[in-house]
Amino acid sequence: MKKLTAALLTSVAAATLSFASMGASAGDAAAGKAKSMTCAGCHGANGISNNGMWPNLAGQKEAYLASQLKMFRSGERVNPMMTAMSKGLSDADIANLSAYYASLK
Ligand code: HEC
Repeated sequence: MKKLTAALLTSVAAATLSFASMGASAGDAAAGKAKSMTCAGCHGANGISNNGMWPNLAGQKEAYLASQLKMFRSGERVNPMMTAMSKGLSDADIANLSAYYASLK
């Protein structure tokens, strides 16, 4: 049991470290805004959605947004709408969109 706990703590620490380094990857918010037109239909023009089932993105953490978009794209996180939306996004698109939505208040 102790060994299991230690192993868990080690992997949590490793995950925290890799997320911290992801936070350093700064996308281009202006390019993200230009790309966000297709997202606005559901997530709102200012990143605030008007549907109870569509999450707000404004002010969300950049690294979190990027990791969720990559998970949708890879199929690790599944949602019919977002799986379709994320398919055409490049890594740069994801970084830029994440920077844009994180910059909104
Ligand atoms: C057709 C509607 C629709 C469109 C268009 C759409 N989304 Fe989404 N999005 C959703 C829904 C619904 C969810 C919630 C998915 C779930 O429940 O897992 C979501 C979830 C997300 C999440 C995860 C939010 C969280 O809190 O975990 C991100 C990030 C995201 N969308 C970004 C985008 C981006 C960027 C675009 C444009 C490229 C986009 N979405 C276009 C409907 C949409």
